[in-house]
This record gives sequence, C-alpha cells and structure tokens, in this order.
Amino acid sequence: MNIPAFTGGNAPPRIASPPAIALHQVSHFFGSTPVLNHVNLTVPKGTILALLGPSGCGKSTLLKMLAGLLHPASGQISFDGEIVASGTFSLPPERRNLGMAFQDYALWPHMSVRQNVAFPLQMRGVRGALLQEKVMAALDRVGLADFASRRPSELSGGQQQRVALARAIVAEPRILLFDEPLSNLDRDLRESLCEEMATLLRQLGTTAVYVTHDRHEARALAHKIAHMDQGAIARIDLNDASVVSPFVA
Ligand SMILES: Nc1ncnc2c1ncn2[C@@H]1O[C@H](COP(=O)(O)OP(=O)(O)OP(=O)(O)O)[C@@H](O)[C@H]1O
Ligand SMILES: [Mg+2]
Repeated sequence: MNIPAFTGGNAPPRIASPPAIALHQVSHFFGSTPVLNHVNLTVPKGTILALLGPSGCGKSTLLKMLAGLLHPASGQISFDGEIVASGTFSLPPERRNLGMAFQDYALWPHMSVRQNVAFPLQMRGVRGALLQEKVMAALDRVGLADFASRRPSELSGGQQQRVALARAIVAEPRILLFDEPLSNLDRDLRESLCEEMATLLRQLGTTAVYVTHDRHEARALAHKIAHMDQGAIARIDLNDASVVSPFVA
C-alpha cells in the first residue's frame, strides 16, 4: 500500500500536556531496608489522588519525596513535565510550589492565625494590601475569618487544622499534599471537616495527593485511590470502583 509522504502544513503538532505529577521507577531505602520499590505513578492535572494503605507501607515516605523532604535513591519525579528529583538533582521544597498539611498541623505557636497563613505568601514576596486580602480570602474559605488575631493555642484541634488548610491553599500552589490531616480529630469532626475539604478541593481544582489509611475518607475526597502495599502501588481504583492500570492514575 502506498502511503503518501507527509509534506508539512501549518497545523501545529498536537502535544498532550504533561501530567501534574509523574514518578518513574522511584525507589528508596532506610539503611538497607527497601521502603519504596520501583514506584511508577502519574497524576493528571486537577486530580485528587488518595494514597491508601496500611501503617508502614510507605505512604508518608512517598509524600515526602514529592515534597522534596526526602530524595529518592533511584528513579525520577517530574511536575508538569519538569524534573524535580533525579540522580543527584533535587529541587528544594520551597521551589516546588506546593501547599502541604500534615497530621500535627505544624502551626507556629508564636504567630497569630493571620501570620501563620501569611507566611507562604511572604516567602513568595507578596506584601501589603494584596497579602492581607489573600490571607483573609483563605481564612474565609475555611470559615475562620473571625479568628485571624488568635494564637493556635487559643483554637480547637479542628480549627487548627483549618488554619493549616488555609496556609496550604493561600499561595495557590500547583500541587497540594496532605498526610492524614484529619487523623487527630474525633470522629464527628473528622467526618464534617472531610466533607468540607472535599468541597473545597473540588472548587479549587488543584492537583492533590491525600495520604490516609481510612478508606471512607479516601472515598469521600478523591477522584482516584492508589492502594499502596509494602512500598509499591498495588492498584488504582477510580472512585466509582472501576480499576485502571497502576501506571496511569
Ligand atoms: N527516618 C526513618 N528511618 C528508618 N526507617 C523509617 C524512617 N521513616 C520511616 N521508616 C520506615 O519506613 C517504612 C515506611 O514508613 P512510612 O512513614 O512511609 O509509612 P506510612 O505508610 O506513612 O505509615 P503510617 O500509616 O503509620 O503513617 C516503615 O517501616 C517505617 O518504619
Ligand atoms: Mg504516615
């Protein structure tokens, strides 16, 4: 069969946009113990991915790799097609444009709520009226606009986690990382804050990785659920329970 040669033309080539997050053959060891075992994973832009698995399976280690707090022993991590960790190269956490919230809130006790939430913006050089406007908008989103002058010690656990959430989203990062942010809260509060977070994350549309060992939380929040086991992604479920390849999230 004769296939005519391509003679050019003015149409630009169609290039698919790269995934927000891509891990290629990422491995890690603590001492000689393997903790991550050749993890391959891609997360398309705007996807909320839950990382679900038993204690010790490597969820937090994987999240720390994304955050830039740990460096992979081998393999490569890219954000939007840009390599952030590979070989000896590692883009530092503050240059990865991330927002993070963890189990222990990690608020600065000597700063007010307003100052805690302002910090990521100040790090990016935002000052003055725009700074105050963005801080109050983030506090408003998490229902804490009236608490801006308080110290973290003057807030409940749930309120402190809302502050941590406001601090994570205030600078409109390209990726949000959560490590069991609700696990310190009692059950009723965990359920209500989980629903609020699900609504907020969907409104924001930001790519997010959400570590949990609670499958109800994963189902309430995520578009896709990656099941981790012994340092590997065993499978990825769409939240409607259909199963897709572990290599394409
Ligand atoms: N700094 C460290 N030094 C040595 N071993 C570590 C270190 N951090 C984690 N580990 C080990 O690596 C494995 C994975 O730990 P990781 O914290 O990633 O688990 P996890 O899935 O987040 O568990 P959990 O649900 O309990 O938080 C565990 O066996 C843990 O003991
Ligand atoms: Mg953990």
